[in-house]
Amino acid sequence: DDPPGYTRLPEADPTALLDFAAARVDDLDDVILLGIGGSGLGARMLRYALVDPAESRPGYPRLHVVDNVDPRRLYYLLTTLDAVATLALVVTKSGSTAETMAGYAVVRGWLEATLGVEEARRRLVAVTDPEKGDLRAIADADGLDTFAVPPEVGGRFSVLSPVGLLPAALMGLDVTELLTGAALMRRAALRPAWRSNPALALALALHQHHQDGRRNVAVMPYADGLVDFAAWFAQLWAESLGKRSDYGPTPQAVLGATDQHSQLQLYTQGPRDRVVWLLETAEHDVEVAVPEREYGYASLDYLAGRGLGELLAAERRGTTLALIKAGTPSLLTTLPKLEERELGALIFLCEAAVSFSGRLAELNPYDQPGVEDGKRATYALLGRPGHTERREADAALESRFDDDLVSRA
Ligand code: PA5
Repeated sequence: DDPPGYTRLPEADPTALLDFAAARVDDLDDVILLGIGGSGLGARMLRYALVDPAESRPGYPRLHVVDNVDPRRLYYLLTTLDAVATLALVVTKSGSTAETMAGYAVVRGWLEATLGVEEARRRLVAVTDPEKGDLRAIADADGLDTFAVPPEVGGRFSVLSPVGLLPAALMGLDVTELLTGAALMRRAALRPAWRSNPALALALALHQHHQDGRRNVAVMPYADGLVDFAAWFAQLWAESLGKRSDYGPTPQAVLGATDQHSQLQLYTQGPRDRVVWLLETAEHDVEVAVPEREYGYASLDYLAGRGLGELLAAERRGTTLALIKAGTPSLLTTLPKLEERELGALIFLCEAAVSFSGRLAELNPYDQPGVEDGKRATYALLGRPGHTERREADAALESRFDDDLVSRA
């Protein structure tokens, strides 16, 4: 078989997007990214992992990923931003997803109302298919800046294309290092023996657990920066592998140590239907120590002089021990540190693991017919031309479902 399109991304030349970012960042305070699913989660993961969650890297704009269409989000965001110093990235491979297109129209309206048509155009960038889709047509007609999502790369595999790398460059991340990490992992993922191939080992382990009845995969990083990595992984895993009624690896994004106080009870004494993937970083870029002194209280004295990173590491080990005692299997990945190279490698590790898992489960991990069906049902509901013919059948389905609820109540 041909290797999947995403495997070529680590060697793609990022010069054009780096040049674009370098030319624009000085004028920017904020970047809004409009994109959902694979078009938004990757950038969110990069931002959370490599930039302080609330802020930006010095000299670079803040990134706001707007994926959902909850009106509160855009309402409050647009009330606080300065349009002059804002750039909007409209990221949709199909060029037609409802949430993204609605967000685009709202943000464009806001920019035009504040700055006029010409200045608004300068602040809109389309990241979409090189030829197809409405967003491509709009961008071509209006002369917007554009970056192409390679057609052979699926949405949830696209973080190392302009979908993730353009926002990364605008945030001041080291794009070359991200790609280097991914390229190094790609080399490892080609090794034939599973013991020296981390992606194959991860896929085999999770597949074997699934076959043994442990369908749930809790992804539990002990690092706040990886909280959105867990969400990104959950989408990659669910949307790629949820294709057979008798096969259901079910990812759950959790955070250590926070969710020790929420989920660990279930993982240790609940049904034995789960494997826990723990992640940690060997080093923290900063450390905060508990002041060294005699507190006179048992709950504090043993902590005196200890770093919070040290405590977090002990929490992770404590969780592993609790899981072992309970008979709940776990895997552990230790990143040397959380920087671009390590994250690039982790991203490629998961993408390659999902490819291997698709093979093991004998399914195609690269399509998403269930997601597409939900999109088309929404289009039909809202009367999008070309999508209305299914409305009658959907309405009949809805009324049967409503009747059923009423009769059960
Ligand atoms: O992984 C996928 O293909 C999906 O999650 C898409 O990324 C998501 O539905 C958004 O699609 P688009 O980029 O076409 O707006």
